[in-house]
Amino acid sequence: MQGYANIAFAGGRDTIINTVSTIFGYLGEHPEALAAIRENPKTVITATEELIRFASPVTHLGRMCPVNTDVHGTEVKAGNLVSLNWAAVNFDESVFENPEEVNIERKPNPHIAFGNGAHNCLGAPHARLPVRTLLTKLSEMASSVTVIEAEGKIEKEGSYERANAYHTLTVKLEAN
Ligand code: HEM
Repeated sequence: MQGYANIAFAGGRDTIINTVSTIFGYLGEHPEALAAIRENPKTVITATEELIRFASPVTHLGRMCPVNTDVHGTEVKAGNLVSLNWAAVNFDESVFENPEEVNIERKPNPHIAFGNGAHNCLGAPHARLPVRTLLTKLSEMASSVTVIEAEGKIEKEGSYERANAYHTLTVKLEAN
């Protein structure tokens, strides 16, 4: 139970921090996105999914393989780890048109930023709500978001590097 409480708190902390900061950074560089949400508030639903896809704050998680198997031609022995790379899937150009671009009206948006299957994120509805609220309130209350200072966070793995949110981000909001 303690382990589960831990994952509920830890799982809901950096994920949201990294998603929210990615959104502020994005809106700072793309004022048109905030204006589009202001003009058409219903876009908040698709914008939320798209910005969570774009942020993909959980890059990957490991799973222990229970049996000897073959994953797309790579032999994996029982007890070895396999990486489920949610972020890579969310930028798959065979699924998402122009995956590196944010399209706040993207639909369908079959991203798996919250994982997939039996262990799909338990907090997904709880995560969507503050993001929708943030976008709604920002579009209503702020005319612009300006990035004052940003230090991006780069994840370095053996075979790839990935920008994932910020170490620090300072923004200025102009009231509407
Ligand atoms: C944008 C925000 C979030 C993202 C992108 C995210 C992403 C994920 C991912 C990728 C998994 C793993 C799924 C798997 O292993 O198949 C996961 C699991 C989990 N998440 Fe989240 N999460 C977010 C927010 C939250 C919040 C706010 C909470 C709780 C308040 C939370 C609680 C959990 C828990 C408890 C699990 C484990 C579920 C299980 O193993 O059955 N997450 N999340």
